[in-house]
Amino acid sequence: MSTELKSKKRTFKPIDSRQPTVRKMDFETMSDLPSHYFAGNSFITHMINAYHILFPEGERFFIRSVKAFSDRVVDPQLQTNIKAFIGQEVQHGKEHEKVLEILAQQGRPVKRFIRFFEWSAFRVMLPFFEFFFGKKLKLSVTAGMEHYTATMGEITLRHGFHEKTYGEMRNLLLWHACEEIEHKSVAYDLLQTVSNSYTLRIFGFFLASWIFWGYVVFFQHWFLLTDPGIGWKKYFQDMNSSREYGRILIAETAKAFFLYLKPGFHPAQTGGYEMEDRALSTII
Ligand SMILES: [Fe+2]
Ligand SMILES: [Fe+2]
Repeated sequence: MSTELKSKKRTFKPIDSRQPTVRKMDFETMSDLPSHYFAGNSFITHMINAYHILFPEGERFFIRSVKAFSDRVVDPQLQTNIKAFIGQEVQHGKEHEKVLEILAQQGRPVKRFIRFFEWSAFRVMLPFFEFFFGKKLKLSVTAGMEHYTATMGEITLRHGFHEKTYGEMRNLLLWHACEEIEHKSVAYDLLQTVSNSYTLRIFGFFLASWIFWGYVVFFQHWFLLTDPGIGWKKYFQDMNSSREYGRILIAETAKAFFLYLKPGFHPAQTGGYEMEDRALSTII
C-alpha cells in the first residue's frame, strides 16, 4: 500500500449523522484477494459476494428513487443530506465495481449475475408494482433497503465481522458500513416528506426484504455452485462453521424487521454513531 494512499485514508471527516460527508476512497490493492476471503469460509464469502452483486445496481436505483423527489424538499438540511447521500452511494458503487472486476478475474460469472438481477428486479418486479402503487413505491423500497444496509453495518461493527475479512476488503466493508449508518435517515426522511402513508412504507419494506434477502441467498448459492474449489464436503463444513455468524445475523435482522413495522419508527432510534466513528479511525 502506497504512502500516498495511506495518508489519503487518514484524513477522514468525522461521522456526523446530522450532516453526512462524502469520503472518496481508492481501494486498489485487492488483486491478491483470496477465493474465500472471510476466514477461509466459502459460505460467508459468497454471501458477501452476493452483496457485491447487489450494491452497484441497487445503489444506482437508490439514487434514481431519491432524485425523483428531491425537488419537493424545502428543508435546507435535508436537501444537503440528500446531496451527501447521493455522493456517498456513487462512491460505494464505484468501489464495489472494482471488487466485481476482481471476482470476474477469479472466474466468477459476475456479468451473468448482474444481468439477471438488473432484468428481474428493475425491469420486471419493481415496474410491475410501480404500476399499481406509483413511483413513490421506489422511494419506499429505497427507505426499506437503507434500513437493512444500516442494520448490516451495525451488526458488522458490533460483532467485528469485518475483522475476519482479508486485507483491503476489510477496509471497504468497514467504510461502507460506517457510511450506511451515517446516512441511514436520509431516504426515510424524504419518504416521510413525500408521503406519511404507513401502508406505502410497509409494502415497500416487504419488497425491500425480498430483494435484500431473497436475491442474496439465491446469488450466494449460485456463487457456491459455480465455485470449482467447493465440493459437498467443504460446503457442509463451511456451512457448519458459519452457524455462529448466522445465529447473530438472523436474530438481529429479525429484531430490525419488527422495529421497522412500528408506526413511530425512525432510523435514528438505533444510533450506532459513536461506534462507527471509532471503527472508521481504524482504517489505515
Ligand atoms: Fe451504500
Ligand atoms: Fe445507503
